[in-house]
Amino acid sequence: MKFTHDQIERKPWLLIVLVILVVSIGGLVEIVPLFFQKSTTEPVAGLTVYSPLRLAGRDVYIREGCYNCHSQMIRPFRAETERYGHYSVAGEFVYDRPFQWGSKRTGPDLARVGGRYSDDWHRTHLNNPRDLVPESNMPAYPWLATSTLDPQSVVSHLKALKRLGDPYTDEQIAAAPKELEGKTEQDALVAYLQGLGIHIKARR
Ligand code: HEC
Repeated sequence: MKFTHDQIERKPWLLIVLVILVVSIGGLVEIVPLFFQKSTTEPVAGLTVYSPLRLAGRDVYIREGCYNCHSQMIRPFRAETERYGHYSVAGEFVYDRPFQWGSKRTGPDLARVGGRYSDDWHRTHLNNPRDLVPESNMPAYPWLATSTLDPQSVVSHLKALKRLGDPYTDEQIAAAPKELEGKTEQDALVAYLQGLGIHIKARR
């Protein structure tokens, strides 16, 4: 019996099975190589795991929903690279779980904001963005300057990341609570921001 297109389309179950087969082969061929490509699995030169303080700052960033207005992904287009610096590459995000790429840009992209301003600038800006940028519609986050971090909570976070394969040593994890002692959420958030995207030099 000749197997024609017409016959396949008349048998919905056969059609469904064949469609699933074709789509999964197509998908796997595109996705699986990414798991093994060096450029997508290996950190860029100089990138290290998040220090406990920066990790705590990253948690504040997520909790406060900064990603609702800020992306962290510079696309490889001239308009973007002229404004923000070198486009983002996969190797910059290997320790980001979950990544903060986003696509909503009420504010500027933050992928390379590290080192662009002083720590003091960030503190003033977080306390009240209008003090530095009068037309800004970014909310103020003044409470971050006084709320302290919980030094113990970072330990389980670090352990979980280690289990997922991030190269933290036991000594690093044991020393983590000390690094957070007496620090505010603002200290942590500023440390997080100041390290963003600094491993690939901006082409400006
Ligand atoms: C409602 C949207 C909104 C939210 C939420 C928001 N921002 Fe912003 N952000 C902006 C806008 C708009 C600007 C540009 C004006 C300015 O500098 O204040 C900005 C600017 C910035 C800048 C300066 C970037 C540059 O390159 O000049 C930083 C850093 C920043 N935001 C960090 C944060 C952090 C951290 C949070 C979360 C605690 C946050 N933002 C939450 C809208 C937002």
